[in-house]
Amino acid sequence: MQSRPSSAIYPRDGTWYLGFMIVDAAQRGRGVGRSIYSTVESWAAARGATEIRLAVLEANEAAERFWRSLGFIEYRRVGPDTFKMRSHRRIELSRRLSGATVEGSNK
Ligand SMILES: CC(C)(COP(=O)(O)OP(=O)(O)OC[C@H]1O[C@@H](n2cnc3c(N)ncnc32)[C@H](O)[C@@H]1OP(=O)(O)O)[C@@H](O)C(=O)NCCC(=O)NCCS
Repeated sequence: MQSRPSSAIYPRDGTWYLGFMIVDAAQRGRGVGRSIYSTVESWAAARGATEIRLAVLEANEAAERFWRSLGFIEYRRVGPDTFKMRSHRRIELSRRLSGATVEGSNK
């Protein structure tokens, strides 16, 4: 999680970017990802974050559903870009932090 390394790339105060999240394949679908995200979000909010942004590859439909289930909303699609020798489009998602927590808010 990064708060503000470069004003050119990350222009908005309070907007934090989540780079990548991965849960052990054997533990998926049990609420671990939701719980980790909730903890990270609370940690960021306590340090001034008002919005969380992240990107998911368009082909990663399971991860897209995960983020949408946590209240993330698409704000744009970009690409295609080449990543690992394949062409991908990227969905950029945002969640505004209003004080409501992930736990219970989108179930
Ligand atoms: C995406 C990932 C982090 C989710 O972690 P997880 O522990 O499996 O997710 P949870 O069990 O906490 O799921 C939370 C909610 O997300 C949704 N969800 C999660 N995986 C889903 C899937 N495969 N299909 C549909 N919905 C899904 C569900 O609505 C779930 O809500 P529920 O508790 O009411 O069922 C995990 O699947 C993962 O590590 N994937 C591989 C790496 C990856 O793609 N990371 C994201 C890159 S942007």
